[in-house]
Amino acid sequence: MVSTRTQNAKRHANGRAGKTQNLAVKPIRLSEVTGVAEKRIPTGIGELDRVLGGGIVPGSVVLVAGEPGIGKSTLLTQLALRVANSIWHMANSKRGETKPSAIRHTPSAVLYVCGEENPGQIKLRVGRLEASLKFKVQSAKLFLLPEVDVDAVVSTIEKEKPGLVIVDSIQTMMTGDLTSSAGSVGQVSESTRRLISVAKALEVPVFLVGHVTKEGAIAGPKILEHMVDVVLELSGDMQHEFRLLRTTKNRFGTTDEVGVFVMEEVGLEEVLNPSDRFLEDRQDKVSGSAVVCVLEGTRPMLVEIQALVVPSQLAIPRRVASGVDLRRVQILVAVLTKRCGLRLGDADVYVNVAGGLTIREPASDFGIAMAIASSNRNRALPTKTAFIGEVGLLGEVRKVGRLNQRLAEAKAQGFSRVVSASEYRSLAAAVRALL
Ligand code: TYD
Ligand code: MG
Repeated sequence: MVSTRTQNAKRHANGRAGKTQNLAVKPIRLSEVTGVAEKRIPTGIGELDRVLGGGIVPGSVVLVAGEPGIGKSTLLTQLALRVANSIWHMANSKRGETKPSAIRHTPSAVLYVCGEENPGQIKLRVGRLEASLKFKVQSAKLFLLPEVDVDAVVSTIEKEKPGLVIVDSIQTMMTGDLTSSAGSVGQVSESTRRLISVAKALEVPVFLVGHVTKEGAIAGPKILEHMVDVVLELSGDMQHEFRLLRTTKNRFGTTDEVGVFVMEEVGLEEVLNPSDRFLEDRQDKVSGSAVVCVLEGTRPMLVEIQALVVPSQLAIPRRVASGVDLRRVQILVAVLTKRCGLRLGDADVYVNVAGGLTIREPASDFGIAMAIASSNRNRALPTKTAFIGEVGLLGEVRKVGRLNQRLAEAKAQGFSRVVSASEYRSLAAAVRALL
């Protein structure tokens, strides 16, 4: 199939010769267009496939962004090992048997460009990760390239024709054509542009590692977001083992999809049942604890909210929140005071999400408010009960989207009762009835 873009490029290369009829290009019949679905290459890491929308699209450029030390190199080394392994099997099976039709050339290997670490360090990491793999690492198909010159990297890709390229990190890449230093906006975006163009030309998928700092790095991945096809954000709390891989942009699938991992001694391990993990250490019949059901992407998860309300020694009582928005907590404290008659004005209020998860959804309001009320009254909420609902300033409990999905998850986790807007229309009524 010759794309319009290629036809145009050829025409420009040949010169326009001033004839308007030469400008006509042949449109492609929709039925002749091959979708990306049949072209995807599964990574073998289910949670990664989920956020990618079902596997790697050939020629796609994926940015994996996250704070230093969060686990980007770990995740991509795991990916490299898996793809190298399947390339090895492809090469050693009967010719053409398992070669994905999507890739024009037979992929030779995986190329890991390590501008940040030396090959010795990567080998050390591979050794560590090997322990968790169920297959023997076919290191013959994994090549390391300690290089920061993007033009050298591009030439190497053109020569070696790898099946997958990983660039760790894009901030280390630079071209001699620019005078600015590595890591500057110009160098980072130009290096990305050159890698994108070779990825498209050869249909080789490229993964770029991009560091973001809490303060917002000067040449952070923000400037690259519009250039690449997919942006994945790896986040988590360094204090906790959970890592979330979130799709913030995907030209080939839905955004806001989430993969859940835990960082173990032997690398990132997939979490197939997040609710189970988040509720693992939960104790029943303790005051200040409520379970909520939040949606991360399209995925419902049950999470425990913990609250602690204690008499304050301060003129202005403390409100501390971790894992939920502090302003949300302040509003809920105000609603509980005004609409439910709780005395919180001279109490310190602490709210925490167990497991180190960060919740953004207002659907957790009801549970947060009930946890605070439960601690304030020193009474535990009923067991096996989950709370779903948004709370308004009038103290009303509101309906939330995708209720059925959340109900199904709660049921699957053994929560016999889900309290939502259909049971109590106001927070005050729920506090009266349940505490
Ligand atoms: P790394 O992948 O190097 O982070 P990034 O590339 O995002 O900067 O991971 C850094 C942390 O992960 C480091 O503190 C060590 C830890 N780690 C594990 O806990 N288990 C492992 O198997 C590996 C490889 C790393
Ligand atoms: Mg790294």
